[in-house]
Amino acid sequence: MADSCSPVIPRHVAIIMDGNGRWAAARGLPRAIGHREGTKAVRRTIEAAIEQGVQYLTLFAFSSENWQRPPEEVTDLTGLLRYYLRNELNELHENGVRLVVIGERDRFGPNLAAELAQAEVRTAGNTKLTLVMALSYGGRADIVEAARRALAAGLSPDAMSEAKFASLLSTDGIPDPDLLIRTSGEERISNFLLWQTAYAELYFTDVLWPDFETADFTKALAEFARRERRFGARPE
Ligand code: FPP
Repeated sequence: MADSCSPVIPRHVAIIMDGNGRWAAARGLPRAIGHREGTKAVRRTIEAAIEQGVQYLTLFAFSSENWQRPPEEVTDLTGLLRYYLRNELNELHENGVRLVVIGERDRFGPNLAAELAQAEVRTAGNTKLTLVMALSYGGRADIVEAARRALAAGLSPDAMSEAKFASLLSTDGIPDPDLLIRTSGEERISNFLLWQTAYAELYFTDVLWPDFETADFTKALAEFARRERRFGARPE
């Protein structure tokens, strides 16, 4: 249990940013405005994560299921992503943020996929915060892809282990999330980091993502510090 002077800061926080559409609907606004407001919450949360000393922040920005939304909304979301990358990358870089993208980036087309790759290369040496953007990401697809890699490499059954399998996932080299936050009152994993969240503490809040403030992030971290993590073992 942490004492009040040294709160336990999660090394890796993963967030399902949910509720942009409901935020907009409540104001009679188009969903696109909700997503745009959502990018402001992204900015606040990255700053808060750096401020708090979180080392890895993974954001579920586009799920593999999001392609099923109406084409206008898909266009809005990919446009926002492109806009975000072009306008925020300099600042992210100056703030020491390393960008890592997981998911099927090629589905966004060759131009955006190349921009994402360039952003990763440019920020690769940064050490303040690793920002993992899950884009066209699905947890099951990640696991299936890892299995494919194992088969393609001709791995023998005896050579397979949890550590080996983890190294074949898109998150190779990134520690598992300690804390998973989902906004908007929904309490589901929704095909996010299925393997990686095996021991994550889950934190659900009714706050809609565009309303998610620094204080909400701090509150989630405070709740995390109160949790007793046993990883399946018995308490001491
Ligand atoms: C869920 O809200 C959110 C998304 C599908 C996308 C998240 C995207 C952003 C926060 C903005 C883009 C981010 C970056 C980094 C450029 P929802 O539309 O499912 O909301 P609803 O459940 O209320 O309808």
